[in-house]
Amino acid sequence: MKVRIFLRGRRRCISLSASLLLFFLFLFPGHLFAAVEAQQAEEIVNGQCSTCHRFSGEPKSKFELKAPDLMWGGVKYQRSWLVRWLTGKEEPLYPNGYRWDVSRHPDRHMVLSQEEAEAVAGYMEEHFQDPRVKKNPIDLSNFTEREAAFGAEIYKQYSCQGCHQIVEDGKKVGGPISANLYDSGNRYTLDWLYRFALNPQDFTPHSGEYLADLSGLGVRYIVGYLMTLGVKDYKYFEPWKTEHFQKADAGRGGQVYKKYCTQCHGPKGEGDGPGASGLNPKPAVHAKMALDQFPEDYLYNVIYYGGKSVGKSSMMPDWGLTIPPQDMADLIAYLRSTFKGGEEVAAAPGKKAAAPGDCPQPRKTKKAPSMFLGKKNPLKATSANIKDGELLFQKKAKPLACAQCHGKQGNGKGALGAGLTPKPRNFTCSATMGKISDGQMFWVIKNGSDGTGMMAFKGLKDKEVWKLILYIREFAK
Ligand code: HEC
Ligand code: HEC
Ligand code: HEC
Ligand code: HEC
Repeated sequence: MKVRIFLRGRRRCISLSASLLLFFLFLFPGHLFAAVEAQQAEEIVNGQCSTCHRFSGEPKSKFELKAPDLMWGGVKYQRSWLVRWLTGKEEPLYPNGYRWDVSRHPDRHMVLSQEEAEAVAGYMEEHFQDPRVKKNPIDLSNFTEREAAFGAEIYKQYSCQGCHQIVEDGKKVGGPISANLYDSGNRYTLDWLYRFALNPQDFTPHSGEYLADLSGLGVRYIVGYLMTLGVKDYKYFEPWKTEHFQKADAGRGGQVYKKYCTQCHGPKGEGDGPGASGLNPKPAVHAKMALDQFPEDYLYNVIYYGGKSVGKSSMMPDWGLTIPPQDMADLIAYLRSTFKGGEEVAAAPGKKAAAPGDCPQPRKTKKAPSMFLGKKNPLKATSANIKDGELLFQKKAKPLACAQCHGKQGNGKGALGAGLTPKPRNFTCSATMGKISDGQMFWVIKNGSDGTGMMAFKGLKDKEVWKLILYIREFAK
């Protein structure tokens, strides 16, 4: 009996203090705890982080620093990355160590508990903003895969790879002297990355940092590209899936064609507009092309970003800034419903073997420079290599799969090749193929054959081209 009373008394006591606590929480929601956290975070930052990092002052050369400056640490990183970094879940950023002039190995970074890291990240977000870093003008909700590919080109062309690492085919490539960028899409905020790109030396002056003379669109491409790196299944914008295309009108598109295209391509798409005479290569003869069968991304890209974007001549201008989205959709509807390639194309995708006249095949292709001509395929004809080549040939090569023109069977009779003069190479014809060296093929695939339908496949890696050649050789066996 006594025991029970005692217990009851205690229970009452507990429930009383619990309701008191609830009452206080109601009065000061969250603040009590947040205040404790912020104070703890401040102590960690001032007491520990600041022994290596600076949190105030003017930007300085890295050679005067122990660790990267964090005055802008509250706007530079995506919060989830920062927390992962502080809890020791990320790889070192600097493969050689931050101060490569002092040591060649990254030190293990200080590690915080999850709670501490969250608190420090919150504290940084609150205290280390940078007035120079504003809402950026780049809208990535309409960033296309083609734009990312432009960004990748800039990345190579501007030697970014010389100092930063990215991952290609599962391997880290590039110089190890500065921060790795293979995960940059999960690390930086778009706002910071944009401001940084305008002038990197505003953040890290005089330390071998590189200034690229990028224009407005160039900045969009490179920054957008960096925001895709490391992001699983990045969701690119696909214009041809928008409402504009659902309500496209071929009739209106005909008017757009008349305004912008007939000057070169001619009123009936015969390639005989008044602007065509001085052009080399000549404007495509749409009337002979099966534009209804072109993949949607290809057709959109060649018009929006110009001939160069798909490895064709820059005589074909880029119309993206000129033609508004609805007009573009209408125009493409017009092209698809008007130009279906005529009889020649109708017969093309047939599984017929090459006609006798197609072999040996007339061939006027320019000779590759001698440094290419003699090159031998460095890869062995293993079944794995040939299989990789097959996948590229039949499906994966960008801007267009080879089979679209050269045919699934390699006989030169793909649907998109039918309207072309000269004809796509017939790879099944050993009389012609026997005279074409590996190096010649390599050069043509990389650079295209000027003035013909054969475009440059600049985006293919050397190894991929060699694998394609292994596969192509199989057709004439
Ligand atoms: C002993 C020195 C040291 C201490 C203490 C230290 N850091 Fe670092 N920190 C570094 C170095 C060096 C790097 C360069 C990155 C690497 O190791 O690859 C770095 C990198 C970073 C980065 C990434 C910088 C970049 O280039 O983007 C962040 C963010 C960071 N530290 C935050 C902190 C915070 C917050 C604390 C305190 C909790 C802290 N660090 C404590 C030395 C230190
Ligand atoms: C000559 C070497 C060099 C080249 C080339 C170079 N960078 Fe850098 N980059 C640096 C240095 C140095 C820093 C400052 C960070 C550090 O201390 O290493 C830096 C910093 C960066 C950062 C910020 C990293 C961070 O976490 O603070 C990004 C992003 C970046 N570079 C992108 C690029 C891009 C894009 C290109 C090509 C247009 C490029 N870099 C070319 C040396 C280079
Ligand atoms: C200044 C002249 C010029 C104008 C204007 C022009 N084009 Fe072209 N276009 C060309 C040339 C030249 C080529 C051939 C490029 C090549 O073969 O490398 C071409 C090729 C093409 C191709 C075929 C690409 C391929 O895969 O072979 C399409 C489709 C095309 N143009 C659509 C258009 C549309 C749509 C317009 C109007 C919005 C337009 N062009 C306006 C010059 C022009
Ligand atoms: C848009 C149509 C088209 C596509 C797509 C295309 N080709 Fe071609 N290809 C041609 C045409 C047309 C020729 C003939 C060029 C000539 O006569 O100079 C050709 C020629 C070639 C040749 C012969 C070069 C020579 O010296 O005779 C090779 C090799 C070749 N293509 C490989 C490829 C590969 C590999 C791909 C895919 C990565 C591909 N082509 C995609 C149209 C195309």
